[in-house]
Amino acid sequence: MSKEIVQIFDTTLRDGEQVPGCKLDREQKLVIAERLDILGVNVIEAGFPVSSPGDFQSVEAIAKLVKNATVCGLTRAVKNDIKIAADALKYAKTPRIHTGIGTSDSHIKFKFNSNRDAIIERAVAAVSYAKTFVEDVEFYAEDAGRTDNEFLARVCEAVIKAGATVLNIPDTTGYCLPDEYGAKIKYLHENVKGIHNAILSCHCHNDLGLATANSIAGVVNGARQIECTINGIGERAGNTSLEEVVMIMRQHPNLNFDTTINSKLLYDTSLMVSRKMGMMVQPNKAIVGANAFAHSSGIHQDGVIKNRETYEIIDPADVGVTESSIVLTARSGRAALAYRAKIVGYELTKIQLDDVYQEFLRYADTKKEVKDDDIHQIIETSNIDLQSIS
Ligand code: KIV
Ligand code: ZN
Repeated sequence: MSKEIVQIFDTTLRDGEQVPGCKLDREQKLVIAERLDILGVNVIEAGFPVSSPGDFQSVEAIAKLVKNATVCGLTRAVKNDIKIAADALKYAKTPRIHTGIGTSDSHIKFKFNSNRDAIIERAVAAVSYAKTFVEDVEFYAEDAGRTDNEFLARVCEAVIKAGATVLNIPDTTGYCLPDEYGAKIKYLHENVKGIHNAILSCHCHNDLGLATANSIAGVVNGARQIECTINGIGERAGNTSLEEVVMIMRQHPNLNFDTTINSKLLYDTSLMVSRKMGMMVQPNKAIVGANAFAHSSGIHQDGVIKNRETYEIIDPADVGVTESSIVLTARSGRAALAYRAKIVGYELTKIQLDDVYQEFLRYADTKKEVKDDDIHQIIETSNIDLQSIS
């Protein structure tokens, strides 16, 4: 059975770039946008054009450059925002305006000092106005994660009638549990009239470390777009990580979903974004962290050397990592030492290995990691007869 394609909406250049210290100049944004297009994302959220002249110019330049993906600009439910976004997107092959408003009681009361009916009116007016410029209009119900489902369904129904093509259901504060977020999407899927005319989109934040799980729960329950960023960068604890959701769908064929992403470019893209933004990737980050395919304990190393699949569920080559690494530490066993010694030029017999291993342990206890140079030194200064090493 052919898999259903889930659209990947990348917001590295908008939600990701909002992070303090991650600001990019126009040239850097263009290089990243081009890479995202080659990576195979379906939508690039290029920025928030009304926010500054620089952002306007970047969105305009990205709209001119991008060949395949839809280029999207964010707005508030404010006429001038929408007009300026439409202007910035006018050169895009396929433009999308992303407009919206807060729908939770907290946003309605504290941000807008308004009421539910007035919020629906503003939402409809924004979508209708955006439709005068572009065909593809995405509506976001900010703080949908904490919005009452019945009211959220009313909002969605009204904006679909006004022409919204995509309904973004953001868990803006990263509060929802996966069951709860999945149930929200299911409720909308089953209760919003006209829902078959629009795509439900997951936009999850990672305040409780649940952004990826929530996005997958959303897709399982009827969403067909995930909004995410490279390396999961974004406001506060970040957004859903693109590489994680893509690889979850690849590694779990029973889910029956896939994306158009060329996963072999994931590692390089992660490095590129990390370097350009000056935002280091944590070493234990899933898929793209420096340790994602590194094995350091003796039991694991022995298994991986015998067969990679004993401790790896992803072939590193599938995400563009050249090979798994066997890192030597004081927790490593003989198999790992023999393996790395062979790589650096020493084929040890079992007796030689026993000798060198004792030296290795003494040395490793004083170090965090034993590198190739250290192996040379340990073997060269050991008592074994080097002539006999092949
Ligand atoms: O997190 C959020 O709610 C957002 C919207 C502006 C889409 O980023
Ligand atoms: Zn967001």
